[in-house]
Amino acid sequence: MCPMWRGSFRALWCGAMVAGLVASATAAADAACSEPIATPGDAAYGAYLAGECLTCHRVDGGAEGIPSITGWGADDFVAAVQAYRCGARRHNVMEMLAGRLSDAEIAALATYFEDLE
Ligand code: HEC
Repeated sequence: MCPMWRGSFRALWCGAMVAGLVASATAAADAACSEPIATPGDAAYGAYLAGECLTCHRVDGGAEGIPSITGWGADDFVAAVQAYRCGARRHNVMEMLAGRLSDAEIAALATYFEDLE
């Protein structure tokens, strides 16, 4: 992308652009990790989305190999899913699933699972 005209003003400018892009990408990842997602979300939408989650996580909260995600506080739930979404917490499957969720969807799931006994 940047021509390698060493010593020229243009090469310097180009290098600064690349450095800036890298810095802003890092800042965006940090924000995605820490920016609060407002809850409660739409519990009915959460129930709809939860179908996929419940192919692995058990609706009765039992945990055999896969951790229970029912009855958590919404904030903890949001933080856990957010951590997978931004890669702060590593797990192939959960990162892939969380990566597809919008903030509104995470809030909806958190609200639904919070009240699931
Ligand atoms: C293919 C199976 C599978 C599906 C589908 C799945 N999960 Fe998970 N989930 C896991 C596994 C395995 C873990 C434990 C990962 C780890 O060790 O970090 C986990 C962990 C979690 C955790 C953290 C639990 C803890 O104790 O810290 C949350 C929250 C979570 N999943 C939410 C969801 C949500 C929300 C969905 C639906 C969008 C979903 N999962 C769908 C397998 C799945």
